[in-house]
This record gives sequence, structure tokens and C-alpha cells, in this order.
Amino acid sequence: MAHGTMTQRIMTQRIMTTAVVLGLAMIGLAVVAALAPPAQAADAQNGEKLAQRWCVSCHVVGPGQRAASADTPPFSAIASRSGFTAAEVALFLLTPHPRMPDMNLSRAEAADLAAYIAAQRR
Ligand code: HEC
Repeated sequence: MAHGTMTQRIMTQRIMTTAVVLGLAMIGLAVVAALAPPAQAADAQNGEKLAQRWCVSCHVVGPGQRAASADTPPFSAIASRSGFTAAEVALFLLTPHPRMPDMNLSRAEAADLAAYIAAQRR
């Protein structure tokens, strides 16, 4: 009988250890999932809202708008360039530029704006 309880105790310990290891692994996965960039696609509609708020003072951001400032490219011109990619524009927006104010955009905001700019292609 004493032998039986010993085996049982070892078994219980093994199960507990496995449970703890699995639990830690799951917490690890949850943390990785939380830190990873959002999986959802860029939202061009939100990009338009952001553009109306942050970009319209310098750029022509969409149709029906008159020139805002002479030396800024309209979004339609940016999007129509050969070699334009939304990914590159998103990256451009996340890196500081001497002639453009740093707007502290989040990655998601930059992606949304880039999707909106891409939609202005003519
Ligand atoms: C204070 C004025 C100003 C504001 C506000 C501004 N821009 Fe600009 N932007 C500029 C100027 C000036 C340039 C041209 C930079 C150059 O040629 O060096 C430029 C260039 C760009 C370019 C790159 C064009 C190229 O030549 O590749 C993109 C893309 C762009 N802006 C997007 C945006 C977006 C999106 C916003 C809003 C979140 C914004 N800009 C807000 C002034 C501004």
C-alpha cells in the first residue's frame, strides 16, 4: 500500500509539472499574440478620416479638393507613381522626414493612411 501511494504521489507530481509547463507555454503564446501586429487588413475608410484630420492642411488628399500647398504632392499623384506600394508609404509615414511634421502615427494608422492613398490612384 505504501508503495502504491508513493507511485501515486510521483504521478500526481508529474501531472502537476506538466500542467504548470503547459500553463506557462500558453501564457507565452498569449503574450506573443498580444505583441504581434494586428492581423486585420488596413482600413482605408479610417485612413480617409485620418487624412482629413492630419494631412489636408498640406496635401490634396482626395477628389474635389483644391490645391492645399504648392510644393506637396497630391495623394493621387503619389499613388499613381510607378513603383508605388502601400507598404512603402506606410514605412515612409513611420519614419521622420525633414519637410513633414512627425505625426506620431501608430503602425495601424500608417497602414490605414497608406491604404487610403493607394485608393486615390488614377
Ligand atoms: C506641414 C505640411 C504637411 C503635412 C501636415 C503632411 N505632409 Fe506629407 N509632405 C509634405 C511635404 C512638404 C512633402 C514633400 C516632401 C519632400 O518632397 O521632401 C510631403 C510628402 C509626403 C509623401 C511622400 C511623397 C513622396 O515624394 O514620396 C507622402 C506619402 C505624404 N507626404 C503623406 C502624408 C500624410 C499621409 C500626411 C498626414 C498624415 C501628411 N503627408 C501630412 C508636407 C506635409
